Amino acid sequence: MIDWKPEIRARQAAWIARRRDLHQHPELAFQEVRTAGIVAARLADLGFEVQTGVGRTGVIGILEGASEGPTVMVRADMDALPIQEENAVDYASQTPGVMHACGHDAHTAIALGVAELLSERRDQIAGRVKFVFQPAEEIGQGAAAMIADGALRDPAPDVALGLHTWNESPVGRIALVDGPMMAGANDFTITVHGRGGHGAVPHEAQDPILAASQIVNLLQSIVSRNITPVEGGVVSVTYFHAGDSFNVIPSAAVLRGTIRAFRPELRDLIEARMRAIATSTAEALGCRAEVQLAHLTLPVINDADVNARLRPAFAQARPDLTLVSNYQAMMAEDMSYFLDQVPGTFFFVGSSNPARGLDFPHHHPRFDIDDEAVVPLAVELMASAVAAYVLPDGE
Ligand code: NI
Repeated sequence: MIDWKPEIRARQAAWIARRRDLHQHPELAFQEVRTAGIVAARLADLGFEVQTGVGRTGVIGILEGASEGPTVMVRADMDALPIQEENAVDYASQTPGVMHACGHDAHTAIALGVAELLSERRDQIAGRVKFVFQPAEEIGQGAAAMIADGALRDPAPDVALGLHTWNESPVGRIALVDGPMMAGANDFTITVHGRGGHGAVPHEAQDPILAASQIVNLLQSIVSRNITPVEGGVVSVTYFHAGDSFNVIPSAAVLRGTIRAFRPELRDLIEARMRAIATSTAEALGCRAEVQLAHLTLPVINDADVNARLRPAFAQARPDLTLVSNYQAMMAEDMSYFLDQVPGTFFFVGSSNPARGLDFPHHHPRFDIDDEAVVPLAVELMASAVAAYVLPDGE
């Protein structure tokens, strides 16, 4: 197998500097113009065939090997979040109200590092590597936009690989999980229509606040009474708005929230129960409920055969790591759209370092990763994963 370590040692300082530069210049979903420019320029320097503007601000770079073989896709996301950074580091965000608080700056730097390493082995590659830098992961739209623009055609990938730096775990812990790994996310809005009136004469009104309150309570029965306890799901009401006066019963109440599930069948069950509870409860109390559901992302479902190929590659490259196979997260990821169409895997690379205070959760204003440790490590893992498919020595 290939030992990437000498090349990694020579290049890692530049990769970390690139991650910090991206961190200083975060860009929101579909606004990743500077980031995409840096990515496209670097891929062109490496002699890749580059396409820009795929899914608005996405970039694709194809590394053509020397002989025939599979097409391996490496996916990285590029966007930041509307959060004001609270870290006092010299590479803190220079854009007020925008921050790389999920690690997508690192993902972009890591994938470029992998591109550099593999480009040096071009003469030995059997097949090709398709690097997909996607926009707008945080709003769950970038992957779908790139797919709509043909990202999975010409050439169609045989396998899709992605990773997420993961602050829930320390550096050195890797989660490579067969099957469902991250939940699908869905939004709901329930509008309860009643009849407004004076707060002192409730019998002449149809109170939507009372009906909506019952609905909030009964929605909690879905996970506890309709879903098998060994699976689980989430129904969270996160918004309840009604009325704006102390003595007026309003005419409507609005509930919003999120549904998470690891299987589409469970999601469908949750949604069916939600519709039934909302409409019949509202009706029982003289009101009428309108339920709107939106599917944001699919669950992330990893292919066991792909993982079986990666596991020995990871273990050989880095026998010092802890490889976990039974980890699941309720958070959502639009890598799921690629994995819905291409067999592949999405793995978590532990990135926290509690001793240095680098263990704030994702999307926190003080989120930061131990980039000096995790960037070179993640490059090594992803390069080894790709090598397991396209570099004959890599197996
Ligand atoms: Ni993320």
